[in-house]
Amino acid sequence: MSAYRAVIAGTGGYLPERSLTNDELAAWKGLETSDAWIIERTGIRRRHIAADGETASDLGVKAALAALAQAGAEAGEVDAILVATSTPDSAFPATAVRIQGKLGVTKGFAFDVAAACTGFVYALGLADALVRTGQARGVLVIGTEVYSRILDWTDRGTCVLFGDGAGAVFLRAEKGDAAGSRGILSSHLHSDGRHGDILQIEGGAGSTGGTGLLRMAGREVFKHAVTKLAAVVDETLAANGLGHGDVNWLVPHQANIRIIEAMGKKLHMSMDRVVVTVDRHANTSAASIPLALAEATRDGRIGRGDLVLMEAIGGGLTWGATLARF
Ligand code: COA
Repeated sequence: MSAYRAVIAGTGGYLPERSLTNDELAAWKGLETSDAWIIERTGIRRRHIAADGETASDLGVKAALAALAQAGAEAGEVDAILVATSTPDSAFPATAVRIQGKLGVTKGFAFDVAAACTGFVYALGLADALVRTGQARGVLVIGTEVYSRILDWTDRGTCVLFGDGAGAVFLRAEKGDAAGSRGILSSHLHSDGRHGDILQIEGGAGSTGGTGLLRMAGREVFKHAVTKLAAVVDETLAANGLGHGDVNWLVPHQANIRIIEAMGKKLHMSMDRVVVTVDRHANTSAASIPLALAEATRDGRIGRGDLVLMEAIGGGLTWGATLARF
C-alpha cells in the first residue's frame, strides 16, 4: 500500500454572471412550464448561463485558480490536470490541456474524463490512483460544463433542469495512511452501457447524425438514481468499515432535491448535514459536486477532519462515490 494520500488542499468554484430564474423560463412562449412545477419536482429555482463565447475552459480556469489560491499552491506545483466535462471546448485539444495552457503550466500531463454527471467522481478516483502510485504529487481535478449549449430549449422536460458552472479541487500528496489521516479514502466507480439511451447527447463529433442535444427519459433515470446511489453508498461505507451516520457531510451530485433527500435519509443524516446547491445552480453535471464543496468549505461548514461522502449518477449510465477526510 502506498504511503501517500491525496489530500483535498483547496477548492474553488465559478458561476457565469447571468442568472436565469424559473419565472423567466415560464415566460418563454411555448415552453409551458411554471416556477411552482419546477420547484415541486426538482427544488430548482434558478441556474447560471454562460455568456456568448464563454467556454468550459474559461469557467474551469477560474475555478482552478480559486482552488490553487485556497491551497496556497503555485501553478508550478501542478503536475496533472483532469477535467470532467461533457461540453468540451472542442473534441481536441482536450479542455484539460486548454486549461493547462491558460494556467501557464508547462510540465506533466492533462486529459479529459467523459462520464457525464459522474465525471467529477471518476476524475477524483483517477487522480487518487495517480497520487497513490507516485505518478503525480499535485493534481487539479476540475468539473466544468456549459450545458446551455446542448439543451433543447423547446423541451420543458430537460431544459429547466440544467445550468452552467465550474468547480475544482487541488489534491496534494501527503504522507500518512493511518486511521484518521486526511485524504481520499476510497472511490467506487460503476457503469452499465445497457442504459445508454435513457440519458444521452444525440450525436457528436464522430457521429453521422443527431442533433447534438441532450435527451432524457426523466422518470427512468430517476428510478436508476435512487437504487444505484443507495447501493454505491452502502458499498463505500462497507469498504471503510463505517456505518450509516458515521459520515459528517454528504455532498451529492445536484440533480434533483428529491433524490438528494432520499440519500440523506439513507445515511440517517438530517438535511443540515447535506450540502445543497441545486436550488440556485440547477444541475451543473460534472461541476455540481466541486461547486458544492467550494461553497461548503468556504462558508465553514466542512472543516478539517470532517468525513465527506460524495456520490453521483449520470449518462452512460455511470455512477460512483468517493469518501474523503478533509
Ligand atoms: N413544466 C411543467 N410540466 C412539465 C415539465 C415542466 N418543466 N416537464 C415535464 N412536465 C410534464 C410532463 O409533460 C408530464 O405531463 P403529462 O402528464 O401531461 O404527460 C408531467 O409533467 C409529468 O412528467 P414526468 O416526466 O412523469 O414527471 P416527473 O415527476 O418524473 O418529473 C423530472 C420529471 C425530470 C423532474 C424527474 O423525472 C427527474 O428529476 N428525473 C431525474 C432526472 C435527473 O436527475 N437527471 C439527471 C441525472 S444526472
